[in-house]
Amino acid sequence: MSKILDDQLINYLCQIKDVYGDEIYFENNNTQKNNLESGFSSSISSFEDQINKCHKCDLGNSRTNFVFGVGDENASLMLVGEAPGEKEDLEGEPFVGRAGKLLDKILNAINRSRNKDVFICNVLKCRPPNNRDPLPIEVKECEPYLKHQINLIKPKLIVALGRIAGKTLLGVDKSLKSMRGEIHNYYDIPLIVTYHPAALLRNPNWKPLAWEDFKWIRSIIETS
Ligand code: URA
Repeated sequence: MSKILDDQLINYLCQIKDVYGDEIYFENNNTQKNNLESGFSSSISSFEDQINKCHKCDLGNSRTNFVFGVGDENASLMLVGEAPGEKEDLEGEPFVGRAGKLLDKILNAINRSRNKDVFICNVLKCRPPNNRDPLPIEVKECEPYLKHQINLIKPKLIVALGRIAGKTLLGVDKSLKSMRGEIHNYYDIPLIVTYHPAALLRNPNWKPLAWEDFKWIRSIIETS
């Protein structure tokens, strides 16, 4: 180390000693990071192979297919839904039913598709019986998979589709209305919560609001 650096370091340590006494405190810069799960694969395709036989919860016994996710591993936009439904369970791909067809149209309208600059997955990778809401234990077991997918893809923006995805990712128990309309922070990645496409099928009067969200989503990914 050069003499100048030596002097700077000694000076700095003397200042620290004046403030804190004999104990040295280091800032832990990792506290804000979405910690990489040790032992998980470092590529999306090998990660899928690694987890698709999962039996960490009972859904592993009732599923037809594990629904890992689909899309571009370098996507700037990552969409996260709730859990596979009947059609997704049968086909092994997320959002392939009616709600998925609507999602495809929305993505088309922002000049994207499920294979073009987008990655689509769910909080749960297996279908809950009769499409019931995910149980806390199922979310707890499955969430590390979602976190690792986000770590691998490193999207510019995450969009949570619906309340369940929003509250899981943000770790809060809030209504969709209170989470929608702001840019949240998911371990330094911007995150927006919008309507689930199935909700738009049930309430078409929400479609203009969802369209506003997706125009906003497009402008965020195009300007960041
Ligand atoms: N609803 C979801 O949340 N995800 C799917 O994959 C299909 C329907």
